[in-house]
Amino acid sequence: MIAPIYKPELSLRISVTDRCQLRCRYCMPAEGVPFCEHDEIITFEEIKDFVAQLQVAYDVHKVRLTGGDPLTRKGIVDLVAMLSELGLQDLAMTTNAQRLARMAAPLRAAGLDRVNISLDTLEPGTFEHITRSDSVDATVAGIDAALEADLRPVKLNMVVMRGINDHNVHDVLTFALKRGCELRFLELMPIGYGADLFEKRFVPTETVHRMLTPAFELTSYPRAAGSSAQRYAVHATDGVEGVAGFISPCSDQFCFDCSRLRLTAGGRLMGCLAREEGHDIRSMLQGEPGAPLLTAVRQALGCKRAGVHFKQSVSMAAIGG
Ligand code: 5AD
Ligand code: SF4
Repeated sequence: MIAPIYKPELSLRISVTDRCQLRCRYCMPAEGVPFCEHDEIITFEEIKDFVAQLQVAYDVHKVRLTGGDPLTRKGIVDLVAMLSELGLQDLAMTTNAQRLARMAAPLRAAGLDRVNISLDTLEPGTFEHITRSDSVDATVAGIDAALEADLRPVKLNMVVMRGINDHNVHDVLTFALKRGCELRFLELMPIGYGADLFEKRFVPTETVHRMLTPAFELTSYPRAAGSSAQRYAVHATDGVEGVAGFISPCSDQFCFDCSRLRLTAGGRLMGCLAREEGHDIRSMLQGEPGAPLLTAVRQALGCKRAGVHFKQSVSMAAIGG
């Protein structure tokens, strides 16, 4: 009998565009950033080929489509359908949900399993201050459409910033619990435009945790291997229950068992957000399948586990959030 081949697990985050309708202060300046030219953006065929080639040597159990906002990429539903043919365990997307109200059902039908949605506040004025857009209602409609289309679990991401939205942690958590969404509190990272805000606005996870009690009782789950979030069972004093998580890239680094790799919208393979190097994978896809790409992947994975210092000067929209 032939022994089954062991394949290490790999989780891919693929940025399908660097464009976005919003201008979140920690990600972009008001005037936006110079976007990649159309012919520099990785094609759907290249993305599918990239994932399929990695499946030969790795157990690619999860692919997450990110951006910019993935829903601004023309034909995104077709890309989801193409990737779902690869038989992945988990095909997910991170979006600001501005266009999700009308796209949730087609995305689900094409094979998308679930979504993570950015929601830093529910207050229209605070939303406008953070995103420089007055469209919080569109995000809420997108969240409801995702639930309706069964893109579950629907996870919400809240970047907590001192004096900007830290007074909203209770409201956003209550909103999430009532809808059956898992809220994750993210620490602000000094990456890209986040670097300018960091000194004044950074709030450590420990502070958010303290702010939530005693209104919410938090009981920790054991940390899942490779997970960036520490998850808690939440019981609100008014009886509402659910799950919340904390992602603490600054105060509690989770690099030691991370198996994530990133592909940027411009086709660069990156092992880590905190490192600026990256290989252009396009030429590797064109030649003999396999070897050069797998060498680049091994190198990218090798740059992890050394502890990180965020020195990234480009925004999350360029690398993929
Ligand atoms: N710090 C923390 N989170 C960030 N995001 C984008 N830029 C930053 C930053 N500098 C978040 C977005 C989104 C997720 C993909 O990344 O809010 O929810
Ligand atoms: Fe867009 Fe996300 Fe950047 Fe906000 S953080 S501007 S939603 S890409």
